Amino acid sequence: MAEVEPLRVLPGRRLEVLDQTLLPSEERYVHLAGIEAVCEAIRSLRVRGAPLLGLIGAYGMAVAASTDASGPELRAAAEAIIATRPTAADLAKGVHRALAVAGEAAGDPAGALWKFASEFARQRAVEDRAMAALGASLLRPGDAVLTHCNTGALATGGIGTALGVIRAAHEAGVLSHCYATETRPLLQGARLTMWELMKLGIPATLLPDTAAATLIASGRVQAVITGADRIAANGDTANKVGTYGLALAAARHGIPFLIVAPSTTFDPACPDGSAIPIEFRAGDEVGGFAGVRWSPAGGGAFNPAFDVTPGALITAIVSERGIARPPYGDSIAALGIAPEGRRTP
Ligand code: MRU
Repeated sequence: MAEVEPLRVLPGRRLEVLDQTLLPSEERYVHLAGIEAVCEAIRSLRVRGAPLLGLIGAYGMAVAASTDASGPELRAAAEAIIATRPTAADLAKGVHRALAVAGEAAGDPAGALWKFASEFARQRAVEDRAMAALGASLLRPGDAVLTHCNTGALATGGIGTALGVIRAAHEAGVLSHCYATETRPLLQGARLTMWELMKLGIPATLLPDTAAATLIASGRVQAVITGADRIAANGDTANKVGTYGLALAAARHGIPFLIVAPSTTFDPACPDGSAIPIEFRAGDEVGGFAGVRWSPAGGGAFNPAFDVTPGALITAIVSERGIARPPYGDSIAALGIAPEGRRTP
């Protein structure tokens, strides 16, 4: 199977992203020629998913430096990219790491940034494999799982976080089935996760978000597995809106609720979930989709892109550095995760 490639660099340092707003009907790459195009692609979710946002942050800085690598220009580009989406910790980390690389580069900051971004992408793929193996070890033969939003190759550039675990469990013959929520309002589960599951040959069933509690109560799934956009020091975790409800249902029915995320998604500077900035998106996304409007114009909409699941509802958090379990204050610190994702000595 050809691996899914959410971003690619063609000769001449031409950065292209697979336009995820068009999937699954059309596979079209768009060229991100400058910083405005990079920011637009992030805001519109052509490119999305927390770990991939870290990569696009780094590549976006390389694109900016290719036009003007002066300090003030690079700092302005960094601010513009970071301002596009506030919740995923990875985006600002990718940008800040790139800024640091540019600051230390002697002679050719643009060259140093392109090199850094491609090394970061390689490292991301290695981390995904490590998380997949660790996470799959938590499942038992015959388990069926429920997942939410899209956490596969499209969201990381590697094999994914939660979907990487699901893929590894499938390849090991452990997984019996994967249920995927449609993920309202932008349908990342229905459009993207189902597309990836089909490509991987994993037995998959789509359900409306509203059917998830009923599915869990029915006993058909033995675990819920999702990714994360930002994990606070105490284990409180922001992820796609609807995750909190899945965790509540999992706890009520006594099945594990697992989070899978690389160390860059942890934010030890956030003491708890109340400090995590939550992105709110345009109400239009709730009242219609892809140019079709079904709600009458003029009404309000409550459209947070993410919610926060309290650490107390999370059975385990899988990162490439190991598995954290409650109480998370201690177990996350034991993974050696420091501010900006640097490993503590
Ligand atoms: O708004 P999105 O599509 O960027 O939201 C993505 C999610 O919430 C994912 O679950 C999360 O980023 C983890 S991706 C590996």
